[in-house]
Order: sequence, then structure tokens, then C-alpha cells
Amino acid sequence: MSKTPDDTPAQVDEAENRSANKSQNDTLGDVINRRFSRREIVGGALAVTAIEAVSGSIDKVIPAARAEGILAEAATFAFDELAVSTSKTHHMAPGYDANVLIRWGDKVLPGAPAFDASKPSAEAQAKQFGYNNDFIGFISLGDDRNRGLLVVNHEYTNDELMYPDFAENKPRKEAVPNMPEALARASMQAHGGSVIEIVRQDGTWSVVENSTYARRITAHTKMRISGPAAGHDLLKTSDDPSGTRVKGMLNNCAGGITPWGTWLTCEENINYYFWNKEAAKASTHSTALSRYGIPEDYYPWARFEPRFDLGREPNECNRFGWVVEIDPKNPESMPVKRTAMGRFKHEGAGSVVNKDGRFVVYQGDDQRFDYVYKFVTEAKVDLEESAANTDILDSGTLYVARFDDDGTGEWLPLVAGHEKLGAFKNQGEILIHTRLTADALGATKMDRPEDIEVSPKTGRVYVMLTKNKKREDEGPLGVNAANPRPANKFGHIIELTPDDGDHAATRFRWEILLKCGDPAVASVGATFNPATSKNGWFGTPDNCVFDAEGRLWIATDGNSKGKTGRADGLWALETDGDRRGTSICFFQCPTGAELCGPCFTPDMETLFVAVQHPGEAQDDAPSATFAKPATRWPDFKDGVPPRPSVLAVTRRGGGKIGA
Ligand code: FEO
Ligand code: CA
Ligand code: CA
Ligand code: CA
Repeated sequence: MSKTPDDTPAQVDEAENRSANKSQNDTLGDVINRRFSRREIVGGALAVTAIEAVSGSIDKVIPAARAEGILAEAATFAFDELAVSTSKTHHMAPGYDANVLIRWGDKVLPGAPAFDASKPSAEAQAKQFGYNNDFIGFISLGDDRNRGLLVVNHEYTNDELMYPDFAENKPRKEAVPNMPEALARASMQAHGGSVIEIVRQDGTWSVVENSTYARRITAHTKMRISGPAAGHDLLKTSDDPSGTRVKGMLNNCAGGITPWGTWLTCEENINYYFWNKEAAKASTHSTALSRYGIPEDYYPWARFEPRFDLGREPNECNRFGWVVEIDPKNPESMPVKRTAMGRFKHEGAGSVVNKDGRFVVYQGDDQRFDYVYKFVTEAKVDLEESAANTDILDSGTLYVARFDDDGTGEWLPLVAGHEKLGAFKNQGEILIHTRLTADALGATKMDRPEDIEVSPKTGRVYVMLTKNKKREDEGPLGVNAANPRPANKFGHIIELTPDDGDHAATRFRWEILLKCGDPAVASVGATFNPATSKNGWFGTPDNCVFDAEGRLWIATDGNSKGKTGRADGLWALETDGDRRGTSICFFQCPTGAELCGPCFTPDMETLFVAVQHPGEAQDDAPSATFAKPATRWPDFKDGVPPRPSVLAVTRRGGGKIGA
């Protein structure tokens, strides 16, 4: 929302008339008149009189007036709000442009063929941009602000939208498990991640063709397993008797970039890739399998690669569900699964260098009633010498959060020797079965923890809890203070403050920053600041990011015409001052899509967003397929399905986003 300095508040004029100071200096009324809109002045004539009692420069007067609650805080974000809608295409705030940087099927590696939706092939896909772009990270290359690497996760595939014929007129859950081998193999190559080099010329970013950095990571890329669980019996398979080597990463959702320039990419819903419910029931580890929802019997890969069949390879599933670290500046480097950070349905990896120099990563386990974690390295980060941090993520302590009703909380360490963890033989087993150990410690069951980020300005930590409609099923004890809604359809955001500003501390304070949903519907119980407009509220927060000025931006997954009357998108959220809890709509996705990967360039002049699963079935198109997608965004050509894409959003005429 832009300020309207031309407003002339009547109260200010009245107050000025009573002023005895006849000098030519600006009165406070003049200043207020110029700087603040009518809406931002909360105290009226009395207030202005009080302000006038405060002498001195305007630099002192304005903060003093704000501290007294006489003046509202100035908006941190300056852009005209987008009017919400649902539509077949994307929309952004007036005065901004969005260019497609790269789409599913575009060339990444040399020799990649042009995208041809009518001829899906694993060979082509292995060299092309994967499906369902999620996390985006920007990594600078030297001092040139017009050049960098973009790392992008490819979380999962919507096979029913991607490939012709096989899914028409069938429920998706029936079509996908029975899909043909050639298509399943193409989808294995559409998973994983991409590294692309990008350059900006005349304000427009494009992908560098044949860059030496270009890389595709897929379900087949060779990876190393490191940390305390590496080599554990539960990680050994017939293909890898050492328990230290694995093929591929799966369902990589959000992630993070480390201060030493590596990409943390987080495996989330790994249960979808494994088959054989009978074998799971008979397994000696059936409790653990069921705690992880394995198997789901959805993607048909087990029909073509026996490792995904629990009856053939009972331990393969334990080799997924980790945080993977990749060095994008070295295309030959082998990705590493860091077991010290735990095994669960990782959403992302929001990090901070602690005041004592150790590296701390906050992590959500995205499932109803699952937990919030943090990992604290044993060693300090070396900010001068990147190579010194190569294995820093292999040693440290994993904690899970307990949120107490009095607004404090405790981080509970998941370490061998803990009196409540006697059932687990060693640290490897504790990490492989992280969820079971967190259960044993009495962690707090949350409403689907998604992204977590640390404010670079205040050090406070923001936890997105996307929704959980099932608490009421648990009876009156289903709720807790940190998750207070029995049917939480729209999610909430918790703000966590580490004791003494120490991210390695075991105690913290917390409060609910925001309960999401429509504030106009009393039964929803949303708590947006009343300054939020009818376009400004949102439901189901998922990804989030702080920009270089410490402002919080939130991407959503779960809005739609039927649920909230608005598409998913990006909202700016005030976290401080008396505008705290005010949000403003900036970007909206085409129908069926959620928004992922918001990522700013360090100069804040470009915002990259990942539009994921455009055209997917939802309330206004309940059975979307290749022939009948909910939209054909962004190409809008007959026969071409919707294509998940990364967009570069810039301000028309240049300048910082939202400033
Ligand atoms: Fe992949 Fe939790 O979103
Ligand atoms: Ca997500
Ligand atoms: Ca994030
Ligand atoms: Ca999501």
C-alpha cells in the first residue's frame, strides 16, 4: 500500500491553528501532512499538541511520536496492492513485470532437445528443466551483480497433466500407479533439481546457454550418505552393502543457501515412491514405516526399479527423507545426504550464523501433528574460507521443539544416552527414526510446519503452520496453546524468540503472530491487523523469505476460488511496530498453482518466484488432465500442457521491489 502524502488531515489543520510558534520552521503538522496519510494518524488534535511538546529535529520527533503511539508506524512495504482474483494467468502489483525465465522442459544441459509435449522421453528430460519447481536459491558469482547461479528444486510430478492419453477419464490415483514405463522413467528425470547460470542485460534475466555450471540432479544422481547414520545397518541395500551410497533425491521441497555457498535441498513426501503394503505390515520395522506413512503405493516406480518395492529392498526407504547438500559451483561434486540433520518430511532449511559462530538450521516436518526442529553445528562456521565448512553439517545436535502454554518453550536434544531414548540402539537409529524419537521426548504436535526463516534484522524466527483440520477429531485435548484452532483450515504463523538472542540456547519464547483466513468471518478467528485490506489477508502460509532489508514475504499453498476466493500467491507481511500483522497482496498464481521459492537478488531489484503445478485439479476444475488442464499457462497453446515455471519479477523502470 503506497502512502498518500497529499491527504490533508482536518485534525492537523485545527491543531496548527492553536500553535503559538510563528517561526517559518516546519510545524509538526506540516511534516505529518507531507509524510503520513489520514489513516496513519491515530491521535487527532490532542496527539499533535502532545507531539509539539517534543522539541528538536524531525528525526527525533517522529520516532518519539511513534513510541507514544501517536503516529502509526510507516509502512515498510511501498507498493500498490494487487486486487485478488482467480484467473488462468498470473498477476502482480501495478507497476511490476514478470518474465518467464525457465519452464519445465526448457534446455538446461548442452544437447537438450527442444520441449515437445507430444513425445515425452527420459533421455530428453534428463537434460531439460524438471517439473514442479519449488525452492529457488540465488548464488552470486564474484562481484558482478548481473550474473549468478540459480538452484531450483523439482519437487514432484503431475503425470496426469504432463503426458498425453494415459490419464484421461480416470481418477488420478488410479491412472498414475498404472502409467506406462516410458513415462514413469521420464518422471524420474523430472524430479530432483537444476543448476542454471543466469545473466541480466538491460534489466532482463536470461539463462546462459551451455554454461559449465549447468547441472541436472535427478532420481538417479549418485549421492553420498554422511554423518552419524552413514553405514548403519538400516541403510544397507543389495545395491549398496556399505550403507553410504544412494541413487537420487526425491520430493525436494524447500531448502536454503549456506554462507559458504552450498545448496541445502530438503526431501519431503518420500512415502509416495514406495510400494508393497503387505511387506510393510510384515516388516520388523512396521511401526517406523507407518509413522512415516510408507508405503503410499502412488508413483509406479517399484514396477520398474525393485529398490522401491519394500518386499525387495526393505531399507531403501530409509535412504530418503534427508537434507541434501550440493555445491553448485562444482558440477562434478557429489551431493551429500547429511544424516545429522534428521530424517523426516523436511520442508526447508532456514538458517542463521549464531552469535557464537555456530551454524543453526531451523526445520519443519510437514505433516499434520508433526514437529519443529533445529540443528546446531558443533563447529563454528568459517566465513573466510568456504572449503573449511565442507563437513560442518555432519557433527552437531538435532533438537525438537516443545511449546509450553505459558509462551516459553524448550528445545529437546535427540541424542543417544537420553533417558527417554533407551529403546534406540545408537545415534544412527535415532536419526533414521527421528519422528519416533521426537515422539518419545514429548515434542509439541504442530499444524503442519512448513517453511521457517530467521529475520536478519531482529533474529526472531518465523514458523509457517499451513493448516490442520483434524485437531477436532482428537477431542478436547486436540488443541494446544501453540496450535489453538480445533479446525485450522487457514493456518497460522508463530514467532519464536531465542533466549538471549542465542540460537543455540535450549529455551525460547514464542507467540502467535497471525492466525490466517478471512478476518470478516468471525468464526474463522483470523487476527490480521485491521489495517489489512480485503485483498491483503491470506490462508495457508507455506514458503517464506526475508529480503535484504529484513522484510517478510509469504507464499501460500491452499487458496482457491472455493476456499478463500483468491488464487495462491505472495503477500508482504509487516512483523514490527503498530502495523505488525498487516499484509498486502503482491503476486497471484494462475489457477491450480501454488507459489514456491520466493527469492530476491541481493540488490532486491529482482524477485524470482516458482509457479508450481499450474492447472492442477482444484475446486473449479476437479479432474484436470493433459487434455483438459485448468489452464495452459504460460504458453497458452493447444496441445501444450501447463508448465511449471520460474518467473523474474521486476519493477517497471527499475528499482528495489516493494520499496
Ligand atoms: Fe512441499 Fe510442505 O510443501
Ligand atoms: Ca512447501
Ligand atoms: Ca524459505
Ligand atoms: Ca506446498
